[in-house]
Amino acid sequence: MLYRFLTQPKRIPSKVFNYLDNTIARFTLQRSAQARYIPAIEQSFREVEAKSQAKFGGWSLSKSAIYTLCRHLLTKTTTPVLIELGSGQSTLFWDAFAKNANLPLRVITFEHNPRWAEHVKNLLTPQTQIEMVLLPLWQIQAQDKEQLFADRAHALEIWQAKQHTVPLAEYDNTRIPNAFYAVTPDCVPPAHSVDAIIVDGPNGSGRSLAYPLLFSALKAQSLVLIDDFDHYPFVPDLARLYPFKPLMERTHTPKHWVLLELQPTPRKEF
Ligand SMILES: C[S@@+](CC[C@H](N)C(=O)[O-])C[C@H]1O[C@@H](n2cnc3c(N)ncnc32)[C@H](O)[C@@H]1O
Repeated sequence: MLYRFLTQPKRIPSKVFNYLDNTIARFTLQRSAQARYIPAIEQSFREVEAKSQAKFGGWSLSKSAIYTLCRHLLTKTTTPVLIELGSGQSTLFWDAFAKNANLPLRVITFEHNPRWAEHVKNLLTPQTQIEMVLLPLWQIQAQDKEQLFADRAHALEIWQAKQHTVPLAEYDNTRIPNAFYAVTPDCVPPAHSVDAIIVDGPNGSGRSLAYPLLFSALKAQSLVLIDDFDHYPFVPDLARLYPFKPLMERTHTPKHWVLLELQPTPRKEF
């Protein structure tokens, strides 16, 4: 309600609004059992902004999304394993946070752009626990995406058989359709080993391909953070394959994101 009131019609500038949103997320974390992580989170924000010379938000996840994900994730486990689709400021955050919170946080980051991957890698700490998986982009036709969603058990085979390689010149195209990292079975982490996934790459509409291709790696009640979730039907696509419960949604801030929790699949009665 408050968000709706303040943002209609532009009662306060977006910079102030982002600040308020981050403050509310921090305050909610402060009141939770995970409040002890706040100093490490804030130290990590400071370190990352200083070394990258870039702010959170914009291309990267917002601080409010990170506070909220940390609150839920660290309630579930103190040995988190994360998959991150799309690297950048957020990758540097996880790297710094693992060090500052002295947490055995494992992060597998998928990235398609070799120049960007190199830039991010150069800013990681020497003791980093980030595993950067640099893969080219593949693309499929809309009807092949449908087949992949309809036959999830064979999704990786269909993906490999139907793909064509995206030319490098298209790597920065933010509206590229149905493109995803060139994952093969050996790139998929072991089944039910991952606590959360951040869906923030690659560019365009293809992020939904993560669901049939990578979600076998997720634990039954994993967290799914989808940035810019309303740019394409990322949430309806997820609903086609997995039941989930919404935990938090931000649409009244300049940066839209949603945090979901997968739910156990109901057993089929025969
Ligand atoms: C939405 S960004 C991912 C951002 C990352 N998860 C973060 O929070 O910083 C998706 C892709 O855009 C590219 N990218 C990231 N930051 C960028 C920037 N500042 N300028 C241009 N491209 C960027 C990278 O190839 C990345 O995988």
